[in-house]
Amino acid sequence: MKNRKPLMAANWKMNLSLDEARDLLNGVRSAKIDFNKVEVLVAPPFTALQLAHALLTETDILIAGQNMHWESKGAFTGEISPLMLKGTGCSHVIVGHSERRALFFETSDIVNSKVDAAIETGLIPIVCIGETLKEREDKKTFDIIRTQLNESLKTNCKKRNLPQSVILAYEPVWAIGTGKTATPEVAQKVHLFIRRWLIENFDNNTGETIRILYGGSVKPDNIKELMLQPDIDGALIGGASLKADSFLSIAKFYES
Ligand code: 13P
Repeated sequence: MKNRKPLMAANWKMNLSLDEARDLLNGVRSAKIDFNKVEVLVAPPFTALQLAHALLTETDILIAGQNMHWESKGAFTGEISPLMLKGTGCSHVIVGHSERRALFFETSDIVNSKVDAAIETGLIPIVCIGETLKEREDKKTFDIIRTQLNESLKTNCKKRNLPQSVILAYEPVWAIGTGKTATPEVAQKVHLFIRRWLIENFDNNTGETIRILYGGSVKPDNIKELMLQPDIDGALIGGASLKADSFLSIAKFYES
């Protein structure tokens, strides 16, 4: 029996007009969700954050930014600061998503700066890690995950202290948007590896408390099996989070 409360997080990526966002938010907020059993979070694009804040303010649904800069303000054209996210109703922020790492050249060093800034600002970072297909085929999965963790959480590793609210997300790059989910067993192996890394680098309590989400082609028909794994504490959902019915049947996995 897991003591960690599951978290179902919707990463909308660069999708949905304001009207579409409104429809989806209305669909999600009007659903009956048992918040004793699950935490639910949406990460809309920056343009829909204010709308999400307005529509979700009286609900238990949490809001995250999909990315941010690590400085609080200044001459950084096109960037959004941690304070701006906080001021728009975000409690969380996704950092180090593989699309940011691969397409926007975000290194683990940058991710570490963002994790530090999030924690300092009082935002909960959802820190993403994951190997590519080539890395998996070359049998480097665990080395890659270890290195990404060491580097993306460098400051916290040095202090040997990680706030227990921090969330990790294992997203194998080869499973994102491809329809290829890691089998629950394959995902569980990596989640267990990550939990052991937490125990080694911090302590038992941190290892037992930190939630590790799985992401990569999560759908209504595979969430239940994934959630049966002892070290999978929720999901980061892309494509299937863009429709209220599919997102809600994932978020309400506890009913099936
Ligand atoms: P998909 O669910 O579309 O595979 O995306 C996963 C993801 O990248 C969530 O952050």
